[in-house]
Amino acid sequence: MLELTGIHAGYENRDVLHGLSFSVPPAAIVAVVGVNGAGKSTTLKAISGLLRARRGTLSVDGRVLRGGSAVEAVRAGIAHVPEGRQVFPDMTVRENLQLGGYSVTTSTIKGRIDEVLGIFPELTARLGAYAGSLSGGQQQMLAIGRGLMSDPRYILLDEPSLGLAPRVIARIFEVIVALREAGKGVLLVEQNGQLALSIAQQAFLLESGTITLTGTGAELLANAEVVDRYLGVGTAAPGSARQRDWTGMLIAALEPLKFV
Ligand SMILES: Nc1ncnc2c1ncn2[C@@H]1O[C@H](COP(=O)(O)OP(=O)(O)O)[C@@H](O)[C@H]1O
Ligand SMILES: [Mg+2]
Repeated sequence: MLELTGIHAGYENRDVLHGLSFSVPPAAIVAVVGVNGAGKSTTLKAISGLLRARRGTLSVDGRVLRGGSAVEAVRAGIAHVPEGRQVFPDMTVRENLQLGGYSVTTSTIKGRIDEVLGIFPELTARLGAYAGSLSGGQQQMLAIGRGLMSDPRYILLDEPSLGLAPRVIARIFEVIVALREAGKGVLLVEQNGQLALSIAQQAFLLESGTITLTGTGAELLANAEVVDRYLGVGTAAPGSARQRDWTGMLIAALEPLKFV
């Protein structure tokens, strides 16, 4: 279990997270929904050690972390895949993957790369290519693959569907479900909240750094206020009919993967 208790974190002298408490069990997808600026990315940074929490505790499988150290977080079994497919464009796909394996021995790295290619066979033919030459979808696969190189027990995904075509999003979500099936705890932050909720076992709504609603993914999806106000669909967002159409199609396509 990845567990946050009363976490306060922020930038300079301002707190963005105001006492967050929640947990991510193994073999579960936990979705975080909330408008831009709610503190979703900050939550992931506080977990992966990119930010040090000012108050509260973070523990992994019963062990309390000191916090504020990315190395400590990786060693504890946490991988963070940041927003915006941050791959190194001037390095090859293989080199990008090797970077993600910095915490493991050279002999293990090769096996890990093979495991990642088993999950994302799309990358196999591109191993020697510069990451910058990959399509957006392949770059997102590489970013997730790099996170998987440390064989994490918990993986934090920040907006993995952002800017990708529906077909590619469906593929990424298929992998997210497979990671859960393989026993990993997944903390999923998504701009496409509807889609995230459709595969999430647990979910919560984050508003101004505070959790204001929790439930199963299905419960939040069934909550009209959440759908209208936070998921960019429904009566409060008249301009989003197109988004609703393809989100609906994607959810239908993902039906067999459904967990809740
Ligand atoms: N590096 C930073 N320095 C200062 N403020 C930041 C920084 N990153 C984010 N913030 C602020 O923290 C708040 C939460 O941001 P963020 O966690 O990125 O939200 P979300 O991911 O939900 O859109 C916002 O008000 C944002 O402006
Ligand atoms: Mg964000």
